[in-house]
Amino acid sequence: MLSNKSLSIAVWPSGADQYDRAVKLARRLNIPLVQTETREYEFLLFCSANGLGLKQTGKNGLRPIMISFTNPTMIYRLKHGGGRGQALARAVGLKKGWQPAVIDATAGLGRDGFILASLGCQVHMLERSPILAVLLEDALLRAEHSKLTAGIIKEHLQFSHTDSMEFLQNLRSQDYPDVIYLDPMYPERTKSSLVKKEMRMLRRVAGDDKDAAELLTIALGCIRNRVVVKRPRLASTLGKIRPSHQITGKTSRFDVYLI
Ligand SMILES: C[S@@+](CC[C@H](N)C(=O)[O-])C[C@H]1O[C@@H](n2cnc3c(N)ncnc32)[C@H](O)[C@@H]1O
Repeated sequence: MLSNKSLSIAVWPSGADQYDRAVKLARRLNIPLVQTETREYEFLLFCSANGLGLKQTGKNGLRPIMISFTNPTMIYRLKHGGGRGQALARAVGLKKGWQPAVIDATAGLGRDGFILASLGCQVHMLERSPILAVLLEDALLRAEHSKLTAGIIKEHLQFSHTDSMEFLQNLRSQDYPDVIYLDPMYPERTKSSLVKKEMRMLRRVAGDDKDAAELLTIALGCIRNRVVVKRPRLASTLGKIRPSHQITGKTSRFDVYLI
């Protein structure tokens, strides 16, 4: 069921053999099914032989999103992203002999969670948007069948479609993770690079995450080691809590809250 009821979206089987899948998806999400490509809806969730994608219709529609953990950009990042030396890894405290259990409480397109999993962390990704959840599930399934990524997915990654606030509040203390990672939507991410365009579309579909400061407060009560919050490099901190330290990368900053 969609949480964002004002979202204008339908499922479209873009390949002839995708009809049954599209029907199931439309039922699961409780949204309409269309037989042909149409601009009647702002978004189309399209089922194709290559995977499940999200397309913004209309003349100025942004580039379709299909999450992939095996596309050239991700493979390049896996091979040349800096390993344990990259800012994300340092922020979660990854080091030789310590590969923390991480809850990625704002999974989104799953990229950060996947990178952490590839570096050996046990990652549980949580996402509340039903649309993002089905896109992620589809990408994870495809990645599970790729030689390059099967090991990472099967051994290090778990995904749940849920609201993290609820999930964390129901965690028993013995199940608290070492790290909770947060990368909530940031309203000013509106400039024109490809990634930012993708984020714009994500925000239309998943919302503004205006409750992110509350999520941080909850997260701080459920960890063994730290909460890490990703922010744009020059943005203010989330809420009023001061981080223990910050790690600044080229475009992003990681605010680290140690307990
Ligand atoms: C900016 S995106 C995260 C991008 C992600 N780090 C990546 O690498 O692709 C933020 C996501 O967090 C999700 N989110 C925000 N608050 C959440 C919550 N309380 N529970 C679950 N998901 C949440 C939003 O729906 C959105 O998809």
